[in-house]
Formats: sequence, structure tokens, C-alpha cells
Amino acid sequence: MIVGNMALKHRIVFPPLTRNRNDDDHVPLPLMVKYYADRASTPGTLVISEATSVSHLEEGQDNIPGFVSESQVAAWKNIIDAVHAKGSFYFQQIWGMGRASFPKFIAKKGLKYRSSSAVAMEGVDATPEEMTEEEILDVIQSFVDTARRVIAVGGDGVEIHAAHGYLLDQFVSDAVNKRTDKWGGSTENRSRLLLEVVKAVVDAIGAERVALRLSPFAAFQGAEKSDIVEQYLYIIKELKKMDVPFAYLSLVEPAGDPGTIVHNGKTVNQDKTLDFILEAWNNRSPVIVAGGYCPNTAAWALEDHYRKWNALVAFGRHFLANPDLVFRIQHGLELNKYNRPTFYLAKNEVGYNDYSFSKEHMAAHPNV
Ligand code: PHB
Repeated sequence: MIVGNMALKHRIVFPPLTRNRNDDDHVPLPLMVKYYADRASTPGTLVISEATSVSHLEEGQDNIPGFVSESQVAAWKNIIDAVHAKGSFYFQQIWGMGRASFPKFIAKKGLKYRSSSAVAMEGVDATPEEMTEEEILDVIQSFVDTARRVIAVGGDGVEIHAAHGYLLDQFVSDAVNKRTDKWGGSTENRSRLLLEVVKAVVDAIGAERVALRLSPFAAFQGAEKSDIVEQYLYIIKELKKMDVPFAYLSLVEPAGDPGTIVHNGKTVNQDKTLDFILEAWNNRSPVIVAGGYCPNTAAWALEDHYRKWNALVAFGRHFLANPDLVFRIQHGLELNKYNRPTFYLAKNEVGYNDYSFSKEHMAAHPNV
């Protein structure tokens, strides 16, 4: 199936997963090359990177990556080349972190702890400062510059992260964004930064290299919306007005809220579905859905619930635990179990490259 400029060979996607295996300067460690290449081992797979900061100002947590300095870009190039060498495809997920940065970590670096508004995140003992207009324009430029760097070293495209309470979502959410200027105060204004970023990146690298991730229902990091339907139908309407061939839209189902499934947070909106967005989007591009899938439920989703749409399914936890997940699903093989306590073990091999390929894969591809 065609997604953007890519001819994918199946509908299983390796989605963005924060794994904290970058060094203290936010440079990918060499062990990440094998990790990504292994998950690209079935040719024609779409591999999406973990969320990557668009500027040093947004490198707000330990051991998450950036795509800015020469050493960061060079390290990512090795990863991109390794994925391509497997005959697979590569998108870089790019973000700002805003108030999801760790305040003490940011303070140690002398950076400003900032967000759309001066609204503290629940459970965090610090209040961000409201960003100035100059800082907002600078963020848009950072997304553009980073997207250009990704393409310059061979990436197939970028996925703009506007989900899960990170910086762009902090502008979309009326629980976080209390601004009264043109960047807040109404559905239109709260959507402005996200849409400006998308437009600017499309202009810079071409729409077929641009994707967008949204999590309409997630409560993770407090980015709730009081009128989800109105907010997202507006965003979809404006994206459609751009009349460009986006690579894909990535949508997180209620069951995929990382607040619930990774961080044991509150469970919200579980009775809701993405249907209203999919109807409005009406197959303008393929969509990737994520929501704690296993092989059986994914088959049902593609063949039944999402059959009207050009859908692909993301597997986060199962793909991190099964480098040959695609092969295993195609051959009906059992899956390795994931080990949650090692998901975020900073800079550590444990729980990272120690998940095995199936013996069937090893027999069929002895050199992988
Ligand atoms: C996380 O670190 O838990 C995390 C990061 C990015 C997301 C979701 C969750 O989009």
C-alpha cells in the first residue's frame, strides 16, 4: 500500500516509543542502530522514531533525543541508513515538550520552563511561564529546520507530534491554554500553532513527507479538551482546506492513552471512538490507529471496524518486545512478553536489544 512516497508491504507499523537510550547530550547511542534496524527487518515496514526534540530548548527530559546538533544528526543518519538497508521506511517523530519537561532538569540547564500558559501540570511542583509570541514563532521555525535536517540525511518524512500533552497539544487543550491573544481563547486560536507548524513544514519538505499525530481523548499530562468533537473537527476541516497529500494521519484511540496504559493514570473516554474524525477525514490520507492492539484485535480492527478506511495498525509494546513482530504475525507465531519496568531504563541494554527473534525467523534469515 502507498503511504506518502512509500510502498509499504503490510499494515503493521512500528510507532514512536520513548525509550531513554540517548546519551546525556540527547544524542542517540550506537545501540539504537540495532534496535531500529531489527524492527525494520521485514522489508516494507514503516518505522517511526521515538519523539525527538526540534530545538535544544525543548530537550526537557534526560536521555530523550534531539535532531539539532551535528552529532545528533549524524547518529540519526546511521539509524535511518540501517532501516533503509533492510528495505523498510523511516519517519522521524518531532516534538516540543513544553511543560512536560522536567522543571529541575530544565533549570539545571538554565532554560525556561514554558508552556502555552502558566498552568502547572498536576503533581508537578512548578508552574511554567507563558511563552511569548517570539518564542512561539521560534518553535514553528524549529519544526521547519528539523524537518529539513531529517530529509537532508535521508529520512522519508516527519510525524509532527501534537498529542499526549506535549507542547503542541498544550496549545490545543483548553485545560492548559488560557491565552487571550491569537494563540488561545477559542477553538480556532488554540488550533493555530499546530496548523501553522503543519503548514510551514509542508511548505518546507512537501506534504507527502508530512504526518500528524493526534490523541483526541487522552488525559495524559492534563491536556484534556472540554469539547473534543468541536476541537478536532475544526482541526480536520483546516487540514482538509490545505488540499495537500499528507503521508498519513496517526490517531490514538481512547485505549491508547499513555496515561492509562503506561503510567497507571486515570481512565477516561473509553466509550468514545475515532469514527467522527475518520468520517470527516474521509480517506484524505491513510490513517494509523493505535490503542493497545494485539494481533487478533488488530485483524478485527482492519477487517471490521476500520474497513471503510485506509488504515494501518501500530503495535507499541509488542513491537518493542518482538524485533520480528511482523514476521511473527504473518506466520501466526507466539509473541515474546514485554517487560514494563525496563521500558525507560536510561542508556541501558537491558530490556532493549535483548528481546529475541523467533527461531523460525532465525532459520529463514540466518544473517539478520
Ligand atoms: C512517555 O514517555 O510516556 C510518552 C512519550 C511520548 C508520548 C506518549 C508517552 O507520545
